[in-house]
Amino acid sequence: MVDPRISVIDERLRQVSRIIAVSSGKGGVGKSMVATTLALTLAQNSKVGLFDLDFTSPSTHLILGVKKALPKEDKGIIPPEVNGLVYMSLIYYSKDQAVPLRGADVSNALIELLAVTQWGKLDFLIIDMPPGIGDAVLDLLRLVKRVEFLIVTTSSLLAFETVKKQATLLRELKFPIIGVLENMKMNNSDSIQLETGKLGLNFLAEIPYDPKVEEAIGNKNKLLETMIAEKIREILQVKAL
Ligand SMILES: Nc1ncnc2c1ncn2[C@@H]1O[C@H](COP(=O)(O)OP(=O)(O)OP(=O)(O)O)[C@@H](O)[C@H]1O
Ligand SMILES: [Mg+2]
Repeated sequence: MVDPRISVIDERLRQVSRIIAVSSGKGGVGKSMVATTLALTLAQNSKVGLFDLDFTSPSTHLILGVKKALPKEDKGIIPPEVNGLVYMSLIYYSKDQAVPLRGADVSNALIELLAVTQWGKLDFLIIDMPPGIGDAVLDLLRLVKRVEFLIVTTSSLLAFETVKKQATLLRELKFPIIGVLENMKMNNSDSIQLETGKLGLNFLAEIPYDPKVEEAIGNKNKLLETMIAEKIREILQVKAL
């Protein structure tokens, strides 16, 4: 039997103009920092939602410094506004406890959150993805047909190998890839940019390693002063996502 919640998902996202998933084949490359900073930057001129889909180790609530906001229930769940973002995470339901979800539970939690969350009218919904091309990514591809991908890598060829795999999968399934961000850059090599070009993908920017990033965690104004924010503003100015 088809899960009845699946048909509800499209309806829930109907008033969302663009859905952008920030993802990577590798962990720890800066997806959550980029997703949160991108959402905060876009929110200066648009209505933006941020959705943390990393159920096993969510971190956007820490980056945003979420305090006591809680979703409201009214024919579904209305996410609270946090720092000007419409913000949703499984963290509201796990109270900072570890969430030991197995494959089927991840799927279930993801379908449930997508089916109940009332995003309302948004210009952008930014999704912070877990690392890799595991269940959450495959479920998102199955359930939300309009999602576009922004891929984050470091300068390491090990990270970039996973970009190749992810890009191949996304292309086969005909999902648009906005481009690749090289994060935490500490060298002068242009090899990631060249390799990105060889794959036929758009190289968006290199973001230097910025020691101010750590101090900015939990502080919106400081987040908007990091190199991540600066580079995102540059991308939005010249290329407009
Ligand atoms: N440009 C940067 N300069 C300095 N530190 C950074 C930068 N980008 C990210 N970081 C730091 O790197 C670490 C990993 O970042 P983040 O948690 O965003 O990665 P992630 O890809 O979301 O990880 P995970 O795969 O676990 O979800 C964090 O401590 C973050 O503060
Ligand atoms: Mg993360």
